[in-house]
Amino acid sequence: MTLALKPLHPLFVAEASGVDVSQPLNDEDRKAINAAMNEYAVLVWRGLNLSGEQQIAFSESFGPLDIGLKRVFKRQERLSDERLIDISNVDLHGEVNQRDSPKNLSSFANQLWHSDSSFMSPKAAYSMLHALIIPAEGGNTEFTDLRAAYDALSPELQREVEGLSAEHFALHTRQLLGDDAYTDEQKKAIAPAIWPLVQTHPGSGRKLLFVGVHAHRIIDWPVAEARIFLLDLLEHATQAPFVYAHQWQVGDLLMWDNRSTLHRGRRYNLSERRELRRTTLNDTPKANLAAF
Ligand code: OGA
Ligand code: MN
Repeated sequence: MTLALKPLHPLFVAEASGVDVSQPLNDEDRKAINAAMNEYAVLVWRGLNLSGEQQIAFSESFGPLDIGLKRVFKRQERLSDERLIDISNVDLHGEVNQRDSPKNLSSFANQLWHSDSSFMSPKAAYSMLHALIIPAEGGNTEFTDLRAAYDALSPELQREVEGLSAEHFALHTRQLLGDDAYTDEQKKAIAPAIWPLVQTHPGSGRKLLFVGVHAHRIIDWPVAEARIFLLDLLEHATQAPFVYAHQWQVGDLLMWDNRSTLHRGRRYNLSERRELRRTTLNDTPKANLAAF
């Protein structure tokens, strides 16, 4: 079968079917998926039941995977393979976390608009997130289209942001959430990454506005002025017409391009179990992102 796509939003996002992502991908299918990602930036696969190994195999067919902050925090993890990122409110014993558990901090940080690993270099290309258990209500994941956000800037603002670069820092979201319990060693272990505010997406040739909550300053700008401008740009980029809200079903696999979108989780009842599993692709020349 060949890849079939059904648009789910006027600007981006399509439901994908017709390719069995539980089996090794051939070159042709991988290229078709890359072409779809260049156009839609978010793909939704429904009704899957992937093992961790299958999710890793599918993800690795696009290139080496990113383990993100695990490199720094070296906490004990629930999922044994470090390539699987545990997006859940579940502790090491399989119980739902206490409300004040430090692990819930990552879930709260995920509720701020971000691009995965933009605080690192290389940052993330695609992320794949598979839903295993979802709460009865809430817990949607929202996406915004940074290409559309760039296109909708006034010509004056497009000129103003061109040539500016922002520094993205891993612990900025934690500090925003009132968590500063990091040693100097940990703070220094994650060198910030610097990215231009305006980028050209290599697969589509489209310009995009690369903002998000990891960006905490603009190079050569006073900090306060930069933060206000970054907040303004983020507000612009996340206006309702650019946003798709995904209501999860068990078995969904979402695949998004962190280079052209932002996302955030939404609130849900923390005493209900929510378990998703993420794999994330490093944006390096080793990634297989070619569409032809
Ligand atoms: C992620 C993320 C949001 C959510 O997995 O990268 O930000 O809704 N998740 O769980
Ligand atoms: Mn994320």
